[in-house]
Amino acid sequence: MLVLQILPPLLWLGQIFASPYTLAPFVLHEKRTHTPKGWSHERKHLASAVLPLRFGLKQANIDKLEDYLYDISDPSSPNFGKHWTPMKVANTFAPSTESVAAVHEWLSDNGIAKERLRVTPGKNWIQLDATVEEAERLLLADYHVYRHESGQEHIACDEYYLPEQVAPHIDIVTPSVHFDTVVHLQPMSLDTTILKSDITIVNETYPGVDHCDTQISLDCLRALYNFDYIPTASDLNSYGIVEYTPQTFRQSDLDLFFTNYSIPELVGRPPFPVSIDGGLQQTFNQSVPFIAESHLDLQYGMGLVTPKLNVTLYQVGDTVNPNTSFNNFLDAMDGSYCTYEGGDDPSVDAIYPDTQPGGYDAPPNCGTAKPASVISTSYSYNEADLTPFYVTRQCNEYAKLGLMGITILYSSGDYGVAGNDGDCLNEDGSQTSNGTLFNPTFPGTCPYVTSVGATQVAVGNTVLDPEIAAVRVTSSSVFYSGGGFSNVFEIPRYQKNAVDAYLKNFRTENFAPAVYNSSGTSRAYPDVSANGANFVVAADGEFILEWGTSASTPTTGAILAMINDARLAAGKGTIGFINPTIYSASFREAFNDIKIGSNPGCGTDGFNAAYGWDPVTGLGTPNFEKLRKLWLALP
Ligand SMILES: *[C@@H]1O[C@H](CO)[C@@H](O)[C@H](O)[C@H]1NC(C)=O
Ligand SMILES: *[C@@H]1O[C@H](CO)[C@@H](O)[C@H](O)[C@H]1NC(C)=O
Ligand SMILES: *[C@@H]1O[C@H](CO)[C@@H](O)[C@H](O)[C@H]1NC(C)=O
Ligand SMILES: *[C@@H]1O[C@H](CO)[C@@H](O)[C@H](O)[C@H]1NC(C)=O
Ligand SMILES: *[C@@H]1O[C@H](CO)[C@@H](O)[C@H](O)[C@H]1NC(C)=O
Ligand SMILES: *[C@@H]1O[C@H](CO)[C@@H](O)[C@H](O)[C@H]1NC(C)=O
Ligand SMILES: *[C@@H]1O[C@H](CO)[C@@H](O)[C@H](O)[C@H]1NC(C)=O
Repeated sequence: MLVLQILPPLLWLGQIFASPYTLAPFVLHEKRTHTPKGWSHERKHLASAVLPLRFGLKQANIDKLEDYLYDISDPSSPNFGKHWTPMKVANTFAPSTESVAAVHEWLSDNGIAKERLRVTPGKNWIQLDATVEEAERLLLADYHVYRHESGQEHIACDEYYLPEQVAPHIDIVTPSVHFDTVVHLQPMSLDTTILKSDITIVNETYPGVDHCDTQISLDCLRALYNFDYIPTASDLNSYGIVEYTPQTFRQSDLDLFFTNYSIPELVGRPPFPVSIDGGLQQTFNQSVPFIAESHLDLQYGMGLVTPKLNVTLYQVGDTVNPNTSFNNFLDAMDGSYCTYEGGDDPSVDAIYPDTQPGGYDAPPNCGTAKPASVISTSYSYNEADLTPFYVTRQCNEYAKLGLMGITILYSSGDYGVAGNDGDCLNEDGSQTSNGTLFNPTFPGTCPYVTSVGATQVAVGNTVLDPEIAAVRVTSSSVFYSGGGFSNVFEIPRYQKNAVDAYLKNFRTENFAPAVYNSSGTSRAYPDVSANGANFVVAADGEFILEWGTSASTPTTGAILAMINDARLAAGKGTIGFINPTIYSASFREAFNDIKIGSNPGCGTDGFNAAYGWDPVTGLGTPNFEKLRKLWLALP
């Protein structure tokens, strides 16, 4: 948070209360730089109107989160692999009783009766129904009503302050500067390009490795990544794939795929279903756009690890709520996440019970689902769709899952340096197709997930040739591996050397450094990559081709799940948060460095793939056998 030592003139109005806090210096807590696109200022809010003020309390020890995570995931640390129990994670970060007391004291010193305050059971936030007049006095803020083009109204202030003694205990106050996403037109995006372009039907399937430049099969991936492994420790192991309703799957299509590409044992085998917030396989529409993502993820995710390992399918959200998001999934993984720092954001996340017809009319799932050891998600937002507060809170949760030994994979996006649908940033933070600034993908820019980009077998090449960065251009769509630099997250130390080397040696002259965060101080992505081109998928009784980092991510997940199998079989723990390990010198030899290709977008040719790490294909594609040996040598 920006800290500013000031005594605003308004402060003197507070003197009549003669409290120590009103005389203490206030510090600026949050400030918004612009009014989001589509919204306009309507009027000053009524002084007597009631605001549901919520004070999200700072978690204890959150400043040590990164150190804790390195301590157990840096291969050179003596505590490598000593993952934490969920209980230890919850206890370590629960807000302290001092924080609750400090906020209580401040409010009661300012004339707010204790009976008006409500503290959640987890002591994570304090709620107060305050008049606008009270809120403005407490926060030195001015509340206004804003109106969206669609007619929706929103209450917000431009900035707010907190007393110096109270500020360290509070992370966020709502409602305040946040607009969060605009109206919820575009939820997170599926990272497969099939949905945005014509469907290519495959008339003849080719298992084996003879057509991998035009049709990817399970055999192509096994050959490309030296990945021929039969698991032996499945009862200890788990691999989870996350899908958001209305994406759904049909068993008959899985069976069709496994009949033509895999072994008979897989035919008739469903994934192991875990329902979150009413998640189910919807049957109201199973046309290609509604099954393309689930079928891609399941056919390849399952095909590369089964029949021995059952893949868990986390199906998130009911069929009618368009707002279900990563936070709803994380709530189910970790009961403490449901509430901390104010909990989910009603303007971004689905809020349950959902009382609309057909909605999941029950409390949200909190801590009800067990996280699998490797979790693959092929959906993404643009970092700029969400506020820095929102993405930071969610990113910290990925670090906590890392502490528990869970590996989190997200696709890096399908639009090169541009955001979903090819939108780019403008100086004011808005996103348009004619924007000129690069538009990074979230959660790929969170330093605590592993971001997966896409490669392909160049046309005419075989699985024995080096791959190139993925590229697909049709009359109706383009697909390039998402990559670049965050505008929010600082560079994690595990990738500092790799990113420095890229910026020093391979900075391209094709565009100005001002179009992206070229400071060298921000998180760069992706971390790794895998093939994402020409995946043959059974959908609606036919075979079609799909492209995208959506394909690369479950493929990488399957490989990592099998590394876990090898370690579990040897009596070792799961690999957990892998980034400090894979960027270490010895592991970099276990990736096939991709040196050809780029990721155009925002009117530029994008970054170039290059020797070593690059913001197109990361460290490169995995060599399973090399990785297995290296990981087996770790404690
Ligand atoms: C498959 O057959 C259809 C109909 O004959 C044709 O339109 C399509 O181009 C063929 N697909 C490929 C990949 O050749
Ligand atoms: C799928 O496999 C069956 C049995 O081998 C074969 O008859 C059929 O032609 C295959 N489908 C395609 C589209 O190649
Ligand atoms: C996987 O699922 C199948 C079918 O439900 C079951 O028979 C098998 O025991 C499961 N395997 C493991 C390792 O859980
Ligand atoms: C199913 O979805 C497709 C694609 O959006 C649409 O064209 C079709 O009309 C829908 N079918 C039904 C029955 O709603
Ligand atoms: C989804 O979010 C929007 C924007 O906050 C909200 O207006 C809408 O009611 C939400 N929909 C549901 C079903 O909760
Ligand atoms: C970009 O497009 C928007 C409409 O989407 C338009 O209002 C704006 O003027 C355009 N900006 C430039 C620089 O062309
Ligand atoms: C670049 O990233 C850093 C995070 O390391 C951030 O503090 C800074 O504001 C970003 N710069 C721009 C121009 O977005």
